[in-house]
Parts: sequence; structure tokens; C-alpha cells
Amino acid sequence: MQFSYVNPTQIQFGQGQIASISGLIPKQQKVLVIYGGGSIKSNGVYEQVGAALEGYDWLEFSGVEANPTAETLNKAVAIVKEQGVDYILAVGGGSVIDGSKYVAAAALYEGDGWDILEGKHQVTEAVPLAAILTLPATGSESNMGAVITKAATQTKLAFLAPAVQPKFAVMDPDVMKTLPERQLANGIVDAWVHTCEQYLTFPADAMVQDGYAEALLKNLRVLASQFADRDNDSWRANLMWTANQALNGLIGAGVAQDWATHMIGHELTALYGVDHARSLAIVQPSLLRNQMADKKAKLEQMGRNVFGLDAGDDLAERTVQAIEAFYHSLDVPTQLTEHGADKAAAISSIVGNLESHGMTALGEHQKISLEQSRELLEQAV
Ligand code: NZQ
Ligand code: ZN
Repeated sequence: MQFSYVNPTQIQFGQGQIASISGLIPKQQKVLVIYGGGSIKSNGVYEQVGAALEGYDWLEFSGVEANPTAETLNKAVAIVKEQGVDYILAVGGGSVIDGSKYVAAAALYEGDGWDILEGKHQVTEAVPLAAILTLPATGSESNMGAVITKAATQTKLAFLAPAVQPKFAVMDPDVMKTLPERQLANGIVDAWVHTCEQYLTFPADAMVQDGYAEALLKNLRVLASQFADRDNDSWRANLMWTANQALNGLIGAGVAQDWATHMIGHELTALYGVDHARSLAIVQPSLLRNQMADKKAKLEQMGRNVFGLDAGDDLAERTVQAIEAFYHSLDVPTQLTEHGADKAAAISSIVGNLESHGMTALGEHQKISLEQSRELLEQAV
């Protein structure tokens, strides 16, 4: 095992922590607050941010949509450039935080920001940014990733750059009180699949990474089983911290990673607007079955250690069934047809897009070719 690991994001966790940002952003900085469609205006978060920024020179940009588009974000890039913004404060879920990362990087680049997503520009510098998380799911608040969509071409691509990792992240579980049931279930599923993408590969005797991944998966099972009684501080705090830890780099350090479910899922979202987490629930069980030969040992380990299943020849398959049952327990469908898309047309569009985005050798062994993707999608509908 060999790795280099650092997570430089300062975490401000707990009730009332939004107020702490006034001590964390240098006073002379001109701040751009970026947020989404307005949920922060109806749940008191906007007022708390305004109070904490008292005395700062700050302005705002709203309207970042779920699955943020470059088209919208480029308007914020122009504001940062024209107004001489020194610091970006993202207030929202993964979409707002990812979108803010794009703005922070594109604002220091003379060319078209989309070059970053196409790998034509390597990000080495960005406007400093921080996050106030309002939806636990993606881990974006303390990682270096962002996923951006170009609406004009229905293209959803990711980029990674240490320069856009938030300086600090505020995680106040109280902000989750206004989250719709659907978004809470999505958050559980996304965090679950993030853990699986870094755990369900092949055994590597990585006791810390495996043990911690199993602890996170067990937490998510417990939280899902308590979903009907979720209106309490401890449930919210545990979900917020678990989702963060699932994608802050720790469990993936030094071990193989998969991410094929995410890459295929992104195409479903770009083409059909399926919520990110729901795209994963459609793809993952079928992908696990398609790759069962290579993933058998880790699926069996997950069956034993996460689901408490008995040994047996079909343990790996029973583990996949348990994963499906987990999604269904949250009312999250696992079939593409349940989203109303036409089967054959959907599959050829998704596979066509995977090809044009170079997603032709996915998975920890690069074995998921376009043919494998087609096969597993056929099984998922
Ligand atoms: O826009 P507003 O009005 O804020 O409403 C949002 C949005 O409609 C709402 N919401 C957020 N916090 C709320 C709230 N509503 C009420 N109360 C609150 N406290 O929830 C809706 C969904 O928000 P969004 O940010 O889109 O959800 P999520 O956090 O699941 O982010 C999904 C995006 O993150 C990307 C996905 O691809 C997708 O674009 N991902 C980013 C990753 C990363 N950076 O590491 C990894 C992930 O795998 C994922 O790909
Ligand atoms: Zn995800």
C-alpha cells in the first residue's frame, strides 16, 4: 500500500456554526455568496450568513440549479472577474458547492471555463472558497471534485483539482430540517455508493480503509432503518458526518477504486434529468452482477460484515439483493423503466454518450467496455 493523504478543509461541525465564518474569512476580502434556487431564503440560512458577514463587503449570485450548468455558472465567473471578488462562499448542496468550484477556477482562467471539464486546461489556481453545506450527500464540502453539466450538449463531466478544495466547511445539521424526504433519501444513497465505489473492488488487506468503509455502510443502514423517526438532532448529525466521511479521500487512500456506476449514472442524469443518487441506484446493482467474477470476494465480505449474511455459494448475489432491498426501503427505484424512459432508445443514447466522453474502459480493472455498459443497462431495465 502506498499513498499520500491530506484533507486540508477545516470542519466547523454542529449547531450554530454558521456564525463562526466571520472568524474564518479575512475581513478585508470581498466575498461572493453563491447559492441555489432559494431554499436558503426560506429556512433562515440566508439570514444567518448575512449576520455572520456583517461588516464584510459582499455580494451574491443565486440560481445555481441542481446538476449545475456551465451556462449559469459563467455568469458568476463574469461577476468575479468584473467585481474583483477575493473569496467565494458556497451555500447549498453538492450542486452549489461544485458550481462554486467551477466559478473559482474559471475566474482565474482567460479561456472558456468548459476547457477545465474537457481537460484542456489544468487547474493550478483558484479564487479561495469555502462551503456552508445544506444537504449531506456528495462530500463536495471537503473534497477537490466537481461535476458540471453543459446544458447545450447534455454533457456532464467531472474535474478534480486541489486548488478548488474548500478552505473550510460549515456543517450545521439544523439546516437539514427543511430538506424534502426525497433529498434525504438521495443523500443516504449517494453516500452509500461513494463508499461502495472505494470498497467493492478486490481485497487488498487494507484493514483501516475496509473497516472504516464498513462502519460507514453500517451507519447508513441504521439511519435508513430509522428513516420514519428521523426528526431528531442525532439522526441529522450522524447522517451529515457519515456522508462527509464517505467522500473526503480517507477510505479511498491506497486502495483500488471503481467509479463506473458514477460515470454511467452521470449520463442518465445528463440525458433524462434523473437525480444523481437515483441514477446510481439504477446502475449499481446491475453493474455489480455484471462484474461479479471480479468483485465476488469483496461482495462476500460486505455480505458478512455489513449485512450479517450467512456464508454460502450465492453470498455475493445475496449481497447485491440486500443492496437493492436497501434502496427499495428508501423508496428509491432500481430500474430505468421506473423513470419512464424508452428502453432501447435510452440504452443507445447512454452508450453513445459514454463513447463520446471516452468512458470506454471503466471500473477498477478498466474492464467495463461499452459492450459491458450496454449489457448491464439492459439488465437494469
Ligand atoms: O437550490 P435550492 O433551492 O437550494 O434547492 C436544493 C435542490 O433543489 C435542495 N436543497 C438543498 N439544501 C436544502 C434544500 N432544500 C431544502 N432545505 C435544504 N437545506 O435540494 C435540491 C438538490 O440539491 P443538490 O445540491 O443538487 O443535491 P446534491 O447535494 O445531491 O448534489 C448533487 C450534485 O453533486 C454532484 C452530482 O453529480 C450532482 O450534480 N456530485 C458531486 C460530487 C463531488 N463534488 O464530490 C460527488 C457526487 O458523486 C456527485 O456526482
Ligand atoms: Zn455521488
